[in-house]
Amino acid sequence: MLVTLTEILKETRAKKYAVGAFNATDYLLAEAVIKAAEEEGVPVIMMVPTPAFKVKQTPYLMQFILDRARKASVPVCMHLDHGKDFDIVMQAIHYGCSSVMFDGSLLSMEENMKQTREIVKIAHACGVSVEAEIGHVPGSKNTPATGAPDESMYTKPEDAVTFVRETGVDALAVSIGTVHGKFVGTPKLDFDRLKTIRDLVDVPLVLHGGSGLSDEDFRKCIELGISKINFFTGLAMAVSKAAYEAMKESEGNIMWPEISPIAEQAGIDATKEQFRIFNTQPLNK
Ligand code: 13P
Repeated sequence: MLVTLTEILKETRAKKYAVGAFNATDYLLAEAVIKAAEEEGVPVIMMVPTPAFKVKQTPYLMQFILDRARKASVPVCMHLDHGKDFDIVMQAIHYGCSSVMFDGSLLSMEENMKQTREIVKIAHACGVSVEAEIGHVPGSKNTPATGAPDESMYTKPEDAVTFVRETGVDALAVSIGTVHGKFVGTPKLDFDRLKTIRDLVDVPLVLHGGSGLSDEDFRKCIELGISKINFFTGLAMAVSKAAYEAMKESEGNIMWPEISPIAEQAGIDATKEQFRIFNTQPLNK
């Protein structure tokens, strides 16, 4: 069934678990993630990344995810990931997303608050949850990064307090040392900062750039109050690796109808592994 972000995260803190949020860049990944959640009986967040909006097949992929989410035997939140402007966020609401992220993290604090506040007003009127980001998790086109980010990008606890109070967001993404994409080296997260933010702010906290963290890092983040964990690179790599191995083993003598179930199964297995690490629990009604 389709649920909002607020609904899907409501028990995370009391029960000390996080809900995994995975990017569906295509049908195969979307199906693998939802199937994994159904097989384990746990909630899941299906994120649609902004680039998926820029192709003409967008309405079909969105319709597929929406249908699949509504018919799923477990709670599924359909969430826009990193919506960078008003138009994309509005399109996501129009396509049926039950949650949106407005990412104004590269704007000034004032401008980020102003735009987030406007989006919150409209999204809430439509019954849609809103996630926003303060501080910045790098690793995208504008802020490439592979190792530990510059500390100036980390979320300042006092800004988090002001931002949540002034915007009315439902969830807050924080920057504490992760990057999007492959992490080169060993991440060193600022757990003290996370704890301070958690103590000061009441909305669920979100960790972006999950790939490359150790199980121990994830457990500690959840212990200190992270409710939603974004994870994509590790999943996409697992699926690509399975397809590559199938090609290699058959010396190229294999066709897509045989590769696709192998790739899907790798996606299911990789998603289930994250559920286990995040300690994701079934959601009570
Ligand atoms: P990774 O690709 O590093 O797992 O990050 C995903 C993410 O944060 C999407 O918003």
